[in-house]
Amino acid sequence: MNTILLKNCQLISAGPEVGLSNILITDNVVSNICSSTKRLQAQKEYDVRGALVTPGLIDMHVHLRWPDKSSINKDLKENIKSGTEAASRGGFTTIACMPNTNPPICTAELIDSVREAALEHKFCRVIPIPAITKQMKGKTLADFNMYHHKDIFGITDDGRGINCDKIMTEAFKKALENHLTIMQHCEVSHLSNGGAIHKGEVAEQLEIAGIPADAEYEMIKRDLEICRKHPAQYHVMHISCKESVDLIRSAKAEGLPVSAEVTPHHLVLCDEDLLSANFLPNFKMNPPLRTKQDRDALVEALDSGVIDMIATDHAPHTIFDKQKDIHGAAFGVVGLETAFPLLYTHLVLTNKISLKTLVSRMSIDAARVFHLPWGDIEEGHSADLSVFELKRVQEVDPESFVSKGKNTPFAGMKLWGWPSLTILKGNVVWEKKW
Ligand code: DOR
Repeated sequence: MNTILLKNCQLISAGPEVGLSNILITDNVVSNICSSTKRLQAQKEYDVRGALVTPGLIDMHVHLRWPDKSSINKDLKENIKSGTEAASRGGFTTIACMPNTNPPICTAELIDSVREAALEHKFCRVIPIPAITKQMKGKTLADFNMYHHKDIFGITDDGRGINCDKIMTEAFKKALENHLTIMQHCEVSHLSNGGAIHKGEVAEQLEIAGIPADAEYEMIKRDLEICRKHPAQYHVMHISCKESVDLIRSAKAEGLPVSAEVTPHHLVLCDEDLLSANFLPNFKMNPPLRTKQDRDALVEALDSGVIDMIATDHAPHTIFDKQKDIHGAAFGVVGLETAFPLLYTHLVLTNKISLKTLVSRMSIDAARVFHLPWGDIEEGHSADLSVFELKRVQEVDPESFVSKGKNTPFAGMKLWGWPSLTILKGNVVWEKKW
């Protein structure tokens, strides 16, 4: 029997907030939560001295870049070990990985090998989200029946939207039959038309081709029409503009089975930040950073619950893929190792959302939407816990990331609330040097 005792925890979970608690972990589960440590003994003890203890964070949108058949710059590319270790360092105990790999994840063999590789490294749980269409080509559906038998619950062609109406209608029908959630990267490709940043005044000023907001919300509109006829569970990934928020709000009011996620960078940055960026490619992602008004609408929707959860869209790229002119540079930024301190500093310390809401949108709510048996701290449940030192202030140093991707727009930013301990199924998978 293995036991760990966390003493003096500021616990935030689904239940009411209480004073400092002590949490006893026995083997894989939380065995006792109480206000006194009398009669509690464990092989290993951590006095966290009032630090925040949350359910292990859940991120439903991560690029682990594995498998990767290409042999160029292999040492610089993310893999399952570096990506899952980065997750554990950021306080995440469960992540979902995207299929836009080489080859794309859409076969039973690849699903098995992602699962096996993640188990080998033990840093966090990895949920494979395989492709909607074969080889992610958008032309024919992958084998949804096989997915169902492999206990897959979410599917996506993330990186691109499904533009063909007929394929999308088929996808909704088959997803409904096989209990799969369609996780859509919403982008009408002929509207984004090779753009690199948000289409608006900033793009005009910088003379960069833009991606208009309707490239996102027109696809959501089309998908909601299909969802009305074939109500499979539908999840909008990395939502970025106010029109999309309005569509999700009305769809929920109508009773459609929809949910949405937003990334940390869309909640904190906007296109005006590009004007002072020292390395523009690290501010390039898809969907792009939109206007201040869009960003504020996203924060409000996150607070009210119209947007269900935060997902990082952790998208590591090598310097070779980024160090190009803005049109040639790869889309995407890393997020796992900065997500919590970034949002704690910019949303909680500025009183835009409460700490409880932040924790909920990064754990409990993803578990609720995707019916995951994790995401809370309760006696008898899996001991997935993360500890954050809310008073610890530190600058973002990309060179200290364990992720191979250093492509962050937040380098040098001073943030509060850094992780210090991550526990997965009762095992310490990462701890700061105490
Ligand atoms: O910015 C992005 N990067 N957006 C995506 O949808 C894909 C991702 C990637 O794979 O790098």
